[in-house]
Amino acid sequence: MRRVENKVALLTGSASGIGLSTARLMAKEGAKVVIADFNLEGAQQAAEEIRTQGGEAVGIFIDAADSKTIEEAVEFTVHHYGKINVLFNNVGLTNLQKDLDVVNIDLDEWDRLLNVNLKSVLMGSRLAIPHMIEAGGGSIINTASMAGFYGDAIRAAYGASKAGVINLTRYIATQYGKNKIRCNAVAPGLILTPAAKRNMDPEVLDIFEKYNALPYHGEADDIGYTVLFLASDESKFITGQTIQVEGGHYMGNPSSPDFREYMNKAKTEGQV
Ligand SMILES: NC(=O)c1ccc[n+]([C@@H]2O[C@H](COP(=O)([O-])OP(=O)(O)OC[C@H]3O[C@@H](n4cnc5c(N)ncnc54)[C@H](O)[C@@H]3O)[C@@H](O)[C@H]2O)c1
Repeated sequence: MRRVENKVALLTGSASGIGLSTARLMAKEGAKVVIADFNLEGAQQAAEEIRTQGGEAVGIFIDAADSKTIEEAVEFTVHHYGKINVLFNNVGLTNLQKDLDVVNIDLDEWDRLLNVNLKSVLMGSRLAIPHMIEAGGGSIINTASMAGFYGDAIRAAYGASKAGVINLTRYIATQYGKNKIRCNAVAPGLILTPAAKRNMDPEVLDIFEKYNALPYHGEADDIGYTVLFLASDESKFITGQTIQVEGGHYMGNPSSPDFREYMNKAKTEGQV
C-alpha cells in the first residue's frame, strides 16, 4: 500500500514550484491529484506528465483571488473523483516592490496579499470541509512561511498574511478535529523553486546560505515530502501544527554565523 493510496487531493498553485513537487510526490504515492492553478496550460501539462508516468491527475484553472473559482475547483474535484480527502492550500504571493514597511506599504497591495494569501485558505477550507466530513475526515495543509513568525525590513503584508495562515490552521484544527479533519501548515524558509532561482540575486542567496545551519539551500521536494507526510495517515495524531522546513536558518543564536567567522579569523591569526 502506497502512502496516500486512493486519497483524492486538490492542490492549489501546483503548476510549478512547491505545489508541483507535492503533486508529483502525492501521485507517485497513490493519490488522485487535481492540479489547480492560474496557469491552466502549466496545470494541464503537469497532469499529463503524471498520467504518462502511470499516476492519476487532472489540471484545472483556479484564481485564488476569486472565491467563485475556488468553489468550482472543490466541486470539480468531488464530481470528478467522487470525494475530497486532502486540500493543499498552497497559493501565496509576495511583492518586493510594493509590500514595503508599514509607513510606505501600498495599501491596495496589502488588500490583495491578504485576500490571496489568507482569505483563499479560509475559502478553500470552508468549501472542502463539508465534503470531507461526508467522506469521514480529511487533511488540510496550508503553506505558511517563516515570514509568518518573524519581523523583517519589508514585506509587512506577506508576513501578516502568513502569520494569519499559521493561526487559522489552529482554528480549523480546533473546530473540526472531532470530525476527523486535521489541519496543519508547513512554513518554508527560502526554497530554491524555479521562480526563486530566477528572481534572486546570487549575493542574496549567499546571505541565506550563510545563516542556514545546514550547508545548502532548501528545494521544492523538501516541502513536498513534508506535505505528503501530513496528507498521509502516518501523521494521524498531528493537528494544528506548523512544521518549519528551513534548514535551521532561524534556530540558533542569530549572531552565531558572525561569531564563527570571528573565531576562524582569531584562529588564523593565532589568537586562540
Ligand atoms: N519559494 C520560497 O522560498 C517560499 C518560502 C516561503 C513560503 N513560500 C510559499 O510557498 C507557496 C508556493 O510558492 P512557490 O515558491 O512554489 O511559488 P511558484 O511561483 O514557484 O509557484 C506558484 C504557483 O502558483 C500559481 N499562482 C500564482 N497566483 C495564483 C493565483 N492567484 N491563483 C492560482 N494560482 C496562482 C502560479 O501560476 C504558480 O504555478 C506560496 O504560498 C509561498 O508564499 C515559498
